[in-house]
Amino acid sequence: MATGLMMISSIIFIIFASLWTYHDAASDTLKPGDTLNSSSSLVSASGKFSLYFYVYIDGSNNNSYLAILNKEAPNNVWIGNRDTPIVYPSSAVLTLDWNNTLKLTHQGGDPIVISSAPQTSNISTSVVATLLDSGNFILQEVNSTDGSTKQVWWQSFDYPFGTFLPGMKLGINHKSGHLWSMSSWATYNNPMPGPFTLDWDPNGHQLQIRRQGVLYWTSGVFTSSSKTFEFISAEESKLRYNFSVVSNENEDYFTYTAVDHDQSDQKPQWVLTFMGSFHDGSFNFAQAEDCDGYNTVGGCVRGSAK
Ligand SMILES: *[C@@H]1O[C@H](CO)[C@@H](O)[C@H](O)[C@H]1NC(C)=O
Ligand SMILES: *[C@@H]1O[C@H](CO)[C@@H](O)[C@H](O)[C@H]1NC(C)=O
Ligand SMILES: *[C@@H]1O[C@H](CO)[C@@H](O)[C@H](O)[C@H]1NC(C)=O
Ligand SMILES: *[C@@H]1O[C@H](CO)[C@@H](O)[C@H](O)[C@H]1NC(C)=O
Ligand SMILES: *[C@@H]1O[C@H](CO)[C@@H](O)[C@H](O)[C@H]1NC(C)=O
Ligand SMILES: *[C@@H]1O[C@H](CO)[C@@H](O)[C@H](O)[C@H]1NC(C)=O
Repeated sequence: MATGLMMISSIIFIIFASLWTYHDAASDTLKPGDTLNSSSSLVSASGKFSLYFYVYIDGSNNNSYLAILNKEAPNNVWIGNRDTPIVYPSSAVLTLDWNNTLKLTHQGGDPIVISSAPQTSNISTSVVATLLDSGNFILQEVNSTDGSTKQVWWQSFDYPFGTFLPGMKLGINHKSGHLWSMSSWATYNNPMPGPFTLDWDPNGHQLQIRRQGVLYWTSGVFTSSSKTFEFISAEESKLRYNFSVVSNENEDYFTYTAVDHDQSDQKPQWVLTFMGSFHDGSFNFAQAEDCDGYNTVGGCVRGSAK
């Protein structure tokens, strides 16, 4: 059994490795006028992440989505047109147009605007869309001479969909009013918003999982001195992660980084599944599906379910 699995994963690895050799030539950036279609992709500088079109087969529909893939844990970590799937095979194209608008176009439908940057006032800067090694896809204004970032106008990290990567935030930006929260997928192969949501409660200093709006699970209070949560195993989490909570007049949020001595070379990613579990692939932070309204084990909230 284990040998079989190892063989399968080796084969998958070889397939992915060869795909990546091919994709190595790809760029990480779209310039104004550039397009990306289903036979091309953007690849981050180190090759860790790629942006491409992915088709999910779900019941009677085959839907095409703009997606970001984590090469080290082959699954999509972000979806660009989550609420507006493009029915396959109508071929979708991602374009950064000359007005600095990043949009998806497809046959027989209105363009789906992802984000837009204002016209540059300085002739020596330009707007480009870049996939970073963190997995963040950004629309930025850069210095045309040395490529350095002048301003970030939009970033995919502000819209976590089902997967929470190091450097993403959960919380609130008081200046813009933007809420960083995430929701699970609808089903395993349907990225539309699902039943479970995860957010940061800035007053209670805790993470919260709700199902259809009803509170099911909390992490318990975050203790700044030890950087731990009441209901998340400190031994397990401290081995892998460095949790941070930032609270000031501009923003209140939770974020994390992976600790340097984590020997696994997997890029960490936390997933909130459509079943209600919140895990990093090997460690479960929460099993919200087990919170039946009666038990209070591991952060379950009493009286909330049904
Ligand atoms: C994608 O674009 C390239 C270059 O413009 C073109 O050769 C190719 O046929 C396109 N692929 C699809 C599936 O439209
Ligand atoms: C969806 O894709 C599957 C597998 O490629 C194919 O068999 C099926 O006919 C497609 N369905 C539609 C509605 O396009
Ligand atoms: C850019 O904006 C101008 C003015 O709104 C419009 O006329 C033009 O069609 C736009 N160009 C593109 C490529 O969308
Ligand atoms: C463009 O930026 C450079 C460097 O910041 C500055 O010296 C120059 O005056 C700017 N030009 C315009 C038209 O704003
Ligand atoms: C762009 O970079 C060059 C070289 O570093 C610098 O001389 C110039 O002032 C920069 N321009 C802007 C608009 O920042
Ligand atoms: C944890 O993150 C904080 C904030 O980013 C940083 O100041 C600190 O040095 C990090 N600690 C470790 C052990 O990596």
